[in-house]
Amino acid sequence: MTVPVTIEFLETDLDRIEDATGQVAIFLGQGGKMGAAATRVDALTSGTLSRVAASEAFGKLKPGEGMELSYPAGLAADMLHVIRLDRADDVAATRKAGAAIGRKLGAAGATVLADAVGHAAEVAFGLTLRAYRFDARKTGPKEAFGPVTMMVAGAEAVRAEAAPLAALADGVFMTRDLVNEPANVLTTTEFAARLEAMRDLGLTVEVLEEDALADLGMGALLGVGQGSASPSKVVVMQWNGGGEEPPFALVGKGVVFDTGGISIKPAGGMEDMTMDMGGAGTVAGVMRALAGRKAAANVVGIVGLVENMPDGLAQRPGDIVTSMKGDTIEVINTDAEGRLVLADIMWYVQDRFQPTGMIDLATLTGAIIVALGHENTGVFANDDALCDAFLAAAAAEGEGAWRLPMGDAYDARLKSRVADMRNVGTGRDGGSIVAAQFLQRFVKDGTPWVHLDIAGTALLQGDSAFAPGGATGWGVLALNRLIRDRFEV
Ligand code: BES
Ligand code: MN
Ligand code: ZN
Repeated sequence: MTVPVTIEFLETDLDRIEDATGQVAIFLGQGGKMGAAATRVDALTSGTLSRVAASEAFGKLKPGEGMELSYPAGLAADMLHVIRLDRADDVAATRKAGAAIGRKLGAAGATVLADAVGHAAEVAFGLTLRAYRFDARKTGPKEAFGPVTMMVAGAEAVRAEAAPLAALADGVFMTRDLVNEPANVLTTTEFAARLEAMRDLGLTVEVLEEDALADLGMGALLGVGQGSASPSKVVVMQWNGGGEEPPFALVGKGVVFDTGGISIKPAGGMEDMTMDMGGAGTVAGVMRALAGRKAAANVVGIVGLVENMPDGLAQRPGDIVTSMKGDTIEVINTDAEGRLVLADIMWYVQDRFQPTGMIDLATLTGAIIVALGHENTGVFANDDALCDAFLAAAAAEGEGAWRLPMGDAYDARLKSRVADMRNVGTGRDGGSIVAAQFLQRFVKDGTPWVHLDIAGTALLQGDSAFAPGGATGWGVLALNRLIRDRFEV
């Protein structure tokens, strides 16, 4: 796994600033009020910081944004990074300030002068999230990120605050690595092996193989994978850090590659379907974070790992499969495979664990990108309280999420002439909602449930605030917070 940069927290030592190499980052509030470290930097640079503070350009910066000064006279550093941040600025601005440092982090590392920052641990977190690079499949010399030293007031307390955030960053990096890996590397077998490796963190991990899935009656899930050389698997991860109550369930779509199957997709852009396991990747990342910070909660994570391939053995349009629930499904379009996978694992996790609530994540529909673009995940729910709690957690973490409606009229479009339902609606309109209606048929009465369609948010072509182009890790922070706020405080 890509290992987050190491950050050392030290009490501020003004005499070490002059010789610090790489990037030196300093924070200035509005009006240019300077703390001890800033005052020293200003003296060493013959008043450069004062000039920056008084400049029009600095005045235009938003909280968390910075200005880069190359080869500053008076410092050994290659770059002095002056970032606008007030002691009273919120967590979002503080993380953004950290991300500005992470985006410019090089092999020489950084010294971050955070003596006058309100939440130094959040600077570290933003820095860590942004200092990510997926180069596992590149050959040649790799530029590692240099070490980061943060000078703070009250290093002990900052270290304590930073520890659970470091576990969270581990989770985000796990999700990103899984989503960024190509499908010839991240086969169902390799995916399961990476989840099994999390036993070292104290998670209980079970892998259910095809014969066990057949015994359970998971005909919907098995149909999707039957055209692939990679065996279908279901992996159950349990973190039991709470009391005796039943767990909360997280459910992830893990299609390691989605060709569409016999209803094959067009060639253009098909390579992006390596990310069709994003839901499973997010569930894995959350479980890693919970274990890493020893969360006082009971959570079960379940993922369905399959590959959707066209083949002589592949499922055909028109096939009728029987789900574990017992309902039959007419497969009109083999490219609507995610819902078939989720139907069986959602049923299984409810049947086995009677969870207090369930959230599924899936790169489920292209239609959600038409509706919401790449800014927001589509949110669907049968329970306002759980949905509102999730939306609040997502907002607090700065992860875009937007609820869409559900209703009987959408559900009616799943009516089949020959089976209990079809796997796609009649017509393409409202496709994300119809997909959610399909899933709801596999939610038991009384299970609070939220469905997250992350097709637009799991992977971005360009850089985003806290990640370079590629996998974002969307949802790990929000779900971690939801679990913390619901069960731990
Ligand atoms: N994995 C895709 C959805 C997707 C599209 C994810 C773009 C990420 C980016 C899903 O399995 C799919 O193919 N959905 C179909 C459903 C349709 C056949 C009803 C779609 O959206 O076209
Ligand atoms: Mn598909
Ligand atoms: Zn898919």
